[in-house]
Amino acid sequence: ERGGFKHFMLKEIFEQPRTVGDTIKGYVSRDYLLPFNLRDFRRILILACGTSYHAGLVGSYWMNKYLQTPVEVMYASEFRYADVPVGERDLVIAISQSGETADTRYSALSAKEKGATVLSLVNVMGSALDRESDYTLYTHAGPEIGVAATKTFTSQLAVLYSLAVSHLPDRDRFMEKLSSVPHMMEEVLGEAEQIKKVALKYANRKNMLYLGRYLSYPVALEGALKLKEISYIHAEGYPAGEMKHGPIALIDENMPVLVVVPRDRVYEKVLSNIEEVLTRRGSVISVGFRDDETLTKVSKDLIGVPEVDEDLTPFLTVIPLQLFAYYIADHLGLDVDQPRNLAKTVTVE
Ligand code: F6R
Repeated sequence: ERGGFKHFMLKEIFEQPRTVGDTIKGYVSRDYLLPFNLRDFRRILILACGTSYHAGLVGSYWMNKYLQTPVEVMYASEFRYADVPVGERDLVIAISQSGETADTRYSALSAKEKGATVLSLVNVMGSALDRESDYTLYTHAGPEIGVAATKTFTSQLAVLYSLAVSHLPDRDRFMEKLSSVPHMMEEVLGEAEQIKKVALKYANRKNMLYLGRYLSYPVALEGALKLKEISYIHAEGYPAGEMKHGPIALIDENMPVLVVVPRDRVYEKVLSNIEEVLTRRGSVISVGFRDDETLTKVSKDLIGVPEVDEDLTPFLTVIPLQLFAYYIADHLGLDVDQPRNLAKTVTVE
């Protein structure tokens, strides 16, 4: 059932071109369309936990860009006790792979009680959150067995992108661009052996810092989460622009810094963060566009992905980070699909 793969996680990483393709298919036509326009709301509040929260963060950048409606993202576990004013003119988007995460469910229920419209984004049809929401959209990723979320993250991205552009007059053009993503993901997966080689150089490290800015910031958070949960290596994801406000103190020759740096609007800024790391003798592993000669020069290791429109970079840059964590954990002989202390579904608060 693992289809020749050593672990479900690896199988699920490799399934992504298909699962993202299936999800896009569900949203290319307008059939799924909601009986409201996202722009009708005063505010959009995205609530989720863990990896689903990271997808929500990426979605918030797209929505801020295209909707011009204020969008906020909050950990559902924080929202519950934070006295956030919510009312009838708010749309709450609750994101959960399982649809059973207690904090996400109860946050959605309380927002609903206060009059907000709740739209959930789930992978498991018929799950509690699915039943409890006003509207549901599905990520057509198929069952995810590995405890570490991988393919559901990229499917959540596909739905969030579709939503962010749904009202645009040239929506079809955006959806066409999105439809080119699965093929490019295939190309990234074709580099798995090279990614493995890079990863294994860092398997014995105790700490790592992951940096990214703009859309690559949530990707950095997600990469660090993958590494800590399955390899038990301490990894911290941080917004690249915040490094100088604290984490830079950690950098010396023993601190590998993985930087997610596609050629986007913040590229030059992130390059100067890389220079700051180099000055302090940190070693830089960068995930960027594959033909990037500047990056090649400043990085100890460069993992290249195909060049793509900046909006769509997270679909590609997250894959090397998933594989990076996987290969290290497997090399360390750890139980990749069932990491210690973790459960696939967190139904306790
Ligand atoms: C990370 C991971 C968890 C989940 C989190 C939310 O790999 O699997 O962080 O993302 O527990 O789960 P769902 O999406 O089911 O609400």
